[in-house]
Amino acid sequence: MASTLPLSQSHSFSTIRLPNRVPKSIPVPSSFLLLKKSSILSSQVSLSSTLTGRRHTVVVAAATTDMPKKQAKGEFVDEMRAVAMKLHTRDQAKEGEKKPESPPVAKWEPSINGYLRFLVDSKLVYDTLEAIVQKAPHPSYAEFRNTGLERSEALKKDLEWFEEQGHSIPEPSSPGISYARYLEELSEKDPQAFICHFYNVYFAHTAGGRMIGKKVAEMILDKKELEFYKWEGNLSEMLQNVREKLNEVASSWSREEKDHCLEETEKSFKYSGEILRLILS
Ligand code: HEM
Repeated sequence: MASTLPLSQSHSFSTIRLPNRVPKSIPVPSSFLLLKKSSILSSQVSLSSTLTGRRHTVVVAAATTDMPKKQAKGEFVDEMRAVAMKLHTRDQAKEGEKKPESPPVAKWEPSINGYLRFLVDSKLVYDTLEAIVQKAPHPSYAEFRNTGLERSEALKKDLEWFEEQGHSIPEPSSPGISYARYLEELSEKDPQAFICHFYNVYFAHTAGGRMIGKKVAEMILDKKELEFYKWEGNLSEMLQNVREKLNEVASSWSREEKDHCLEETEKSFKYSGEILRLILS
């Protein structure tokens, strides 16, 4: 059965903005992350609205009592999320810290052709990520096979549906091609950076991506719900399983490798932001 996990109530379309272009590099030293531990915990509390009851209980306990050892240490995926959330604008997500530079989603005027370009380039990115984890040039990527989050087949069905409606499907364009090429390169030579992109692409799509999909469907698709936004099975559980695998894989990394992974988040926003903007092209 397709997941019906509700969107977080914090999601307000009237105030959503496209992600900003981010500066070339924001160093995220580990000392900074340690100082920000309190905000990481509050992130987890807000995140709990979209997660399983089990995680909710753990997070509330961490915030209100002496922190259990596991929580006090902070899981790596929570660091990944904290860095990503700061790269949103305040209007996109309440933990966002970037200054808005682009129009809010509510002001978007999407076109079918622009949306098709976005879907085609997104498919190229998911095809690439899914082929990389199958091939697993670094053995740890094999952990991320068959997570249930895969989007390639769903996008294939959606593009077939558009074709049946008489639309012609464009070829992939430069944002998708550049991102796919970059992911291929990273996957061979920089596993920490690759894992950062893997996390951001899949998790962003289940949060802001779904909100955007819903809005665009209301505006130009007569509310047609695309397969891209439906998951077979329990989405919360699938996300939680992937979080656990991310933590497991990162547990063998040095602090420097972890920081390197976190520093890659900006690039993930840059590449995904360019693909998102295709909706408006
Ligand atoms: C218009 C663009 C975007 C909007 C409106 C948006 C909005 C949001 C919202 C509302 C959340 C959930 C916050 C919460 O749980 O309280 C979220 C989570 C997240 N977003 Fe975005 N976002 C956008 C773009 C991006 C981009 C480009 C990336 C990176 C590629 C990204 C990465 C993430 C990640 C990693 C999470 C955490 C998901 C989780 O923990 O399950 N977002 N976003």
